[in-house]
Amino acid sequence: MNKDATLWKCGARPEPAARWVVWGEAQLSAAGVPHPRVDAEMLLASVLDLDRTGLYLRQDPLGREDQASFRALIARRQRREPLQYILGEAPFYGRFFGVNGDVLIPRPETELLVDEVLKRSQRPLRIVDVGTGSGCIAVTLACECPRARVVAVDRSLRALRAAQANGARYGVDERIRWICADILAGLRPGYRAELIVANLPYVARGELPALQPEVSAYEPREALNGGSDGLSLIAELCAAAPRMLAGGGLLAVEIGDQQAAAVRRLARQTGAYDGVEVVRDLAGKDRMVFLTRAR
Ligand SMILES: C[S@@+](CC[C@H](N)C(=O)[O-])C[C@H]1O[C@@H](n2cnc3c(N)ncnc32)[C@H](O)[C@@H]1O
Repeated sequence: MNKDATLWKCGARPEPAARWVVWGEAQLSAAGVPHPRVDAEMLLASVLDLDRTGLYLRQDPLGREDQASFRALIARRQRREPLQYILGEAPFYGRFFGVNGDVLIPRPETELLVDEVLKRSQRPLRIVDVGTGSGCIAVTLACECPRARVVAVDRSLRALRAAQANGARYGVDERIRWICADILAGLRPGYRAELIVANLPYVARGELPALQPEVSAYEPREALNGGSDGLSLIAELCAAAPRMLAGGGLLAVEIGDQQAAAVRRLARQTGAYDGVEVVRDLAGKDRMVFLTRAR
């Protein structure tokens, strides 16, 4: 813990923002929060409507109301509520997405999935995002592919509401159809997409309690639980996607780092794909699979 912060009796005299950052950092550090300095800065910056650098330039002491708001946010973070839920948004692919406890917080690995999808499928016109959550994939692809029409599917109506708000925020909701359904069951027979992309839950049920508290206590269980081996939803999707993919179309799926071999097997069993490519994330772990529908 920062020694200076433990000595300072917060509130004993008016203190500028930089001193409150030190106080917040000490509280978070004592609660075992990773990256306590950055989190304290982000929380205070949100209270004062400044950027993080601005905190160090501001000399005025914090008013009573701002002090109370900051203390309340620090208390939430001490209870390990994710920073993004407290702030109400998370960055993804250069944009900010509204998030709340109904949706998974978008992850950097999924930004990579979007990047790799765009490299392989340059001008898809019909795109399906299965398990859309915050809508980060669907909305990003709609923004990046201005002629595309997107179908965003989630089994959670609450998640779809958050996703739709994100679509509206970036002016693309007119080109996205929001469907509350299981995997691809909500699509009409005969529908054909050039691209189906999915970041479905892939954590094995037994591993859920061991996740860090921010995830296990706050993120929606239905966004994490992939069944007994983590693969039940991915297996369903691999089997159902060929009926909805145009010949040569792409199925892009985010996976757990130990799941590539099993997904290859699942794909082979369908006999419907003629290309299987596994791509690693920046940590060198298997993270996504690209399956090409046979023509
Ligand atoms: C891992 S989260 C991913 C959210 C978002 N796509 C992202 O990458 O941040 C998985 C999402 O799939 C949804 N989901 C779970 N089971 C589903 C199913 N059987 N059919 C459709 N969506 C499902 C969950 O509600 C959750 O929003």
